Amino acid sequence: MPVITCIEDLKALHRARTPRMFYDYAESGSYSEQTFRDNTTDFARLRLRQKVAVDMSNRSTASDMVGLPVSMPVGLAPVGLTGMQHADGEIHAARAAEKFGVPFALSTMSICSIEDVAAHTTKPFMFQLYAMKDQDFLAAIIERARRAGCNALVLTLDLQILGQRHKDLKNGLSAPPKLTLATMLNLATKWRWGLGMLQTRRRQFGNIVGHAKGVGDTRSLMSWTAEQFDERLDWDKVARIRDMWGGKLILKGILDPEDARIAADFGADAIVVSNHGGRQLDGALSSIRMLPHIVEAVGDQVEIHMDSGIRSGQDVLKALALGAHATWIGRAFVHGLGAMGEAGVTAALDVIRKELDISMALCGERDVHALGRHNIMMPQDFLTEYGA
Ligand code: GLV
Repeated sequence: MPVITCIEDLKALHRARTPRMFYDYAESGSYSEQTFRDNTTDFARLRLRQKVAVDMSNRSTASDMVGLPVSMPVGLAPVGLTGMQHADGEIHAARAAEKFGVPFALSTMSICSIEDVAAHTTKPFMFQLYAMKDQDFLAAIIERARRAGCNALVLTLDLQILGQRHKDLKNGLSAPPKLTLATMLNLATKWRWGLGMLQTRRRQFGNIVGHAKGVGDTRSLMSWTAEQFDERLDWDKVARIRDMWGGKLILKGILDPEDARIAADFGADAIVVSNHGGRQLDGALSSIRMLPHIVEAVGDQVEIHMDSGIRSGQDVLKALALGAHATWIGRAFVHGLGAMGEAGVTAALDVIRKELDISMALCGERDVHALGRHNIMMPQDFLTEYGA
């Protein structure tokens, strides 16, 4: 077993072991990928303030997310096609999360279905929803999540149409992959992945196929979103979904203080400051830059989470210090999954927890709740450069 010291190690293994179209799907942003890059480089521009000779015994990363206890405030974010990164990927990730004591959010566009993940886990998970045009399908999938015991609905607001990711078009991304010559040549080098896929029946969009009517190409995320996602989603529709669900609601994809104010007045249990990992509006500012503005606007009204750009425990620390109550990771756990299945997701969580714990101690902090602006040194114009 290779020695894993950081998320980059898992990323290298993910890249070596998973078919190119799925690795590229994860490791892409939209269009020029400016926002995708900024998400990580802006984290790197923030520096941590070292404090010495402070008692650092009895440290704790434990916290809560929408009222649920967590061993560290880092959830596994909903990621489409996770079951194509590794056979039965969503089940592996959900199991790693429940053992680690952090939330797992299952994507609408997952390969393993809601029922399947529920049957293979012992604790409730969250369900991420895209608003669909087909009202029967929408009502049915909310009901399916309720019956499976999901403990929160994560409603994504920033993907009613898909930002173009060039590599997905060039690679002919589909689930399962269409067997062109180029794909077959690439698959021939990914024997572990292929063996896993031969041994599972989960190779299509499990929440959709067999549940939705009138779907054109069931393999294509791109045609799916274009045909089925509701371009007319507005706050009234969000309210209807909130009422249909009736349980804990997390609104994901808020990047602007004005939207955050609407979301906070709306009675959401949490909002996720996110630009969808740089996969939607290319040219948007990074989540970590927008976070302090949103905390200033609504931090006293609603629980604020953030995602987009987190690749380490130091990044988690920075986000918490700038006012996030909790964070979510997407690529960081998907790299672990593509590298080594459940063990890889556990390794990713372990890396991040240790980095968070040690860095916290070196900042003179013992508890994630004590982190704050005093732990951060930022470039003078970090918050004002773009007049956000
Ligand atoms: C879907 O959520 C995507 O970003 O591809």
